[in-house]
Amino acid sequence: MLKTNIAVFVSGGGTNLQALIDAQKAGIIKSGEIKLVISSSPAAYALERAAMAGIDTAVVSRKEAASQADFEKGITDALEKYDIDLIVLAGFMSILSADFTRRYENRIINVHPSLIPSFCGKGFYGLKVHEEALKYGVKVSGATVHFVNEIPDGGKIILQKAVEIEDGDTPETLQKRIMEKAEWIILPEATEKISKEIMEEKNAAI
Ligand code: GAR
Repeated sequence: MLKTNIAVFVSGGGTNLQALIDAQKAGIIKSGEIKLVISSSPAAYALERAAMAGIDTAVVSRKEAASQADFEKGITDALEKYDIDLIVLAGFMSILSADFTRRYENRIINVHPSLIPSFCGKGFYGLKVHEEALKYGVKVSGATVHFVNEIPDGGKIILQKAVEIEDGDTPETLQKRIMEKAEWIILPEATEKISKEIMEEKNAAI
């Protein structure tokens, strides 16, 4: 059985990457294998997490690239070298063009720290999402894993998990609870679900 070759895209601390690595070790992710971690920043701690797990890494920076097309060519070259079937965005903060998302249609998934369609889309990333949820006064938030298309946070939903807001929550405490109780659970689950589908397709085609 050929497994699904996974690339994880990161930009920062990489706690979601760590959850994926741990899930692979625990056998929760069994239909795919993380072959490559791509970071948009050379300073991302996620790169160290990958290195500690023995996973190859590549840094592809938008700032260093002459254009969006050059940036994406750098990414595509790395993906082809590793024969990647599935891209998992785990806190990846660079924009991917419609050209790129169309090329990998139904092959890119993302974790977003709210219940889409609330607190999502352009400008909603990281702590900002939680600041806005608290400002609005919602009593429940959570996380969503969805396919990535040309609309920011607009692709088909794969999994969602709700998390209750508690009295006295700050953006930081809410972010932490949503990571621990939702993101780190549903991202590995969704990765296995889609990896399994791709693996079955791949092996049927042989
Ligand atoms: C996570 O909370 C993730 O959901 C969020 O950034 C954080 C990355 O943390 N992503 C977005 O806001 C995307 N719109 P990590 O580097 O520790 O996984």
